[in-house]
Amino acid sequence: MKYVDVTTLTLEEKASLLTGAGFWTTTAIPAQNIGSVTFADGPHGVRHQKHGMDHLGLYNSEPATCFPPAVAVGSSWSVEVAARIGAALAREARALGVDVLLGPGVNIKRSPLGGRNFEYYSEDPLLSGVLASTYVNALQEQGVGASLKHFAANDQETERMVISSDVDERTLREIHLSAFERVVTEAKPATVMCSYNKINGVHASENKWLLTDVLRTEWGYTGAVISDWGAVRTRPAAAAAGLDLAMPGPGEYATQSLIEAVKSGAVEEATLDAAVGRVLGLTAFTGTDPATADLGAHHDLARELAAECAVLLKNKDKVLPLKPQSSLLVVGEFAQTPRYQGGGSSHVNATQVDIPLQQLEGRASANGTTVHYCPGFSLEPADEDSLREAAVAAARATDIAIIFAGNPEEEESEGFDRRRLELPPAQVQLIKAVAAAAPRTVVVLANGGVVSLEEWHDDVDAILEGFLLGQGGGKAITDLLFGDISPSGRLAETIPYRLKDTPTFLSFPGEQEHVRYSEGVMVGYRYYETVDQPVRYPFGHGLSYTNFEVSDLRAEAAGPDTIAATVTVTNTGEVAAKHVVQMYVSTAAGPVQRPERTLAAFTKILLQAGETRSVQLTLDRRALRYWDITRSDWVVPSGNYTIQVAENASEVLLQQDVQLDGDELAAALSLQSDVAEWVSHPVAGPALRDRLNQIMAANNQHLDDDSEGTKMMLSMPMNQILSILGGAIDGDWLLAMLNEPSQPATATA
Ligand code: BGC
Repeated sequence: MKYVDVTTLTLEEKASLLTGAGFWTTTAIPAQNIGSVTFADGPHGVRHQKHGMDHLGLYNSEPATCFPPAVAVGSSWSVEVAARIGAALAREARALGVDVLLGPGVNIKRSPLGGRNFEYYSEDPLLSGVLASTYVNALQEQGVGASLKHFAANDQETERMVISSDVDERTLREIHLSAFERVVTEAKPATVMCSYNKINGVHASENKWLLTDVLRTEWGYTGAVISDWGAVRTRPAAAAAGLDLAMPGPGEYATQSLIEAVKSGAVEEATLDAAVGRVLGLTAFTGTDPATADLGAHHDLARELAAECAVLLKNKDKVLPLKPQSSLLVVGEFAQTPRYQGGGSSHVNATQVDIPLQQLEGRASANGTTVHYCPGFSLEPADEDSLREAAVAAARATDIAIIFAGNPEEEESEGFDRRRLELPPAQVQLIKAVAAAAPRTVVVLANGGVVSLEEWHDDVDAILEGFLLGQGGGKAITDLLFGDISPSGRLAETIPYRLKDTPTFLSFPGEQEHVRYSEGVMVGYRYYETVDQPVRYPFGHGLSYTNFEVSDLRAEAAGPDTIAATVTVTNTGEVAAKHVVQMYVSTAAGPVQRPERTLAAFTKILLQAGETRSVQLTLDRRALRYWDITRSDWVVPSGNYTIQVAENASEVLLQQDVQLDGDELAAALSLQSDVAEWVSHPVAGPALRDRLNQIMAANNQHLDDDSEGTKMMLSMPMNQILSILGGAIDGDWLLAMLNEPSQPATATA
């Protein structure tokens, strides 16, 4: 970056730099040597729109590889998948002249109905944060900036511009800010994008607590805060709260209002200077040599990575992988018109798309298997009865039916939430009818958010949940069905029996512009496990074509707030496959209700048939802490922590208790605390004792005299005693001592 002395810029120039020049670019000032920075969506592919102002993905962008969207990457539980996507996206971005990519999104899947769940990783902040950090590091290592979004508590589309997410602080910190915190501190994304919604009544774009106190002061963020497209309401208020760049532009009114706010003293010029410095910092991501992206190789990569994301939910009598057989019936419009990404701003104009039907036909012919196809249902208005009947007739004459079902695109997109958990009724009817007619039935699902399996689950033999797999999904599914690759995806979100079972059933999506996060920290599996609510498939579930055994868990304290664990994993089956080692922590330590168990660490490993490996995992402070509202701080309490190696969130395989010393805590005091707590405080206590004893001596009393009156006084709140003493002890003097770490203070009052 060429050095620009901010103080040489005029107020007008500075204000202009803080609003986009156009839809995707920042303002350039050639006379001052300041170039423009180019943004593009999005998380799983570069949506570079050379012309036009389309942030809703309505028009085609430049062709780019559509990698598996975050819903799939979350299900891969693989940092390697996240890293390889990040690096490939950087190459494509540089080839297209894009400097900053608008992703990843790390909002939490609070309800399965969330309209943008396909753009987010998980219901668990550790899984989301680790995958997103890896992606950002890989992207930025290649010289392309990331934009971590949507900050924060933007977990629904209903009323997204105005809704207030009303969330208590512990829930925010532990669940909804946690992945952001990890990515900010571990990967330093070039930008953080504030969301549209309000948090506890204040728009994210004007929320100083969020954008400055938490993000910058606490987490040490030094990059640029940019707005979601159109999220800025009042430009001066946003600047004062810590928002650097308002997007998109041009925004003459906003720029003018900023200039006037500085002139009137409502916003300090120093605030603008700091924001300009950070926006200019983004030019560090410009000027890198344009890369050439090998789109053919990226298509192969998209296929390879997609195969790691699909989750084998059910496999009765090992119907999968497919055995050599004479005939195969493929049913479902999605087999020839695949759904592989969601709608809205993240929509990528894929370079090519694998058609599942063609891939299956190609692979089956190598086995001498004939493939028949029936659409079974239509994505357009059609005579569903006759489509279904044709499929059922064909099912009677086949060895096995493979049905491609899922949510149609118009039900899953940015801009609105889903209304139901079930598949469209025509598809449900089709699955039941085909399953009744065919000797064996496999369902392959394509959906951005989880769907209910209840009406047909028991009728079919196998279910492969593909979610949305990107442009290589057709080949990946074929590889998995035929057993060329063993499935290794695991659910990153719970599949409930019923919508009514979900923790947000009563509060999602809120009413009258407020959504109350009444489930608190009990999101997803944290809730189901804590209240023993049965689910269809738990978080972490996923089958393989081999078996894994875990043994020999050894966990021990590696410090007051850290646990080191090792566990042995053996592939006891016949084929090589990847396995996700999931380690959870269960504890009742501390004064707050903790979830029954919480994901604390994970890793994915490849094991050849018969191979054994020892895996080491560290459960750090982050995995063990809770947010203490009385201290406004993280605490790892001393106590017992049960470390659990689990098949999934509800099936613990091995466990071991570890005793932790935890944090050394001085009692958190306020004037509401009782006198007994005050006199035992290490700093304030001795000074207060001296002072009280002086006062009590007048009545021949003493703090240790064990009299009724003294005991009563010790049990009273400090502020009541202060008022009884009528000013003889100064409350401010007491409070000031709480901030003195060292020697006990002497009484001065
Ligand atoms: C979305 C963002 C996106 C932006 C630019 C907004 O509508 O919420 O995720 O990055 O548009 O397209």
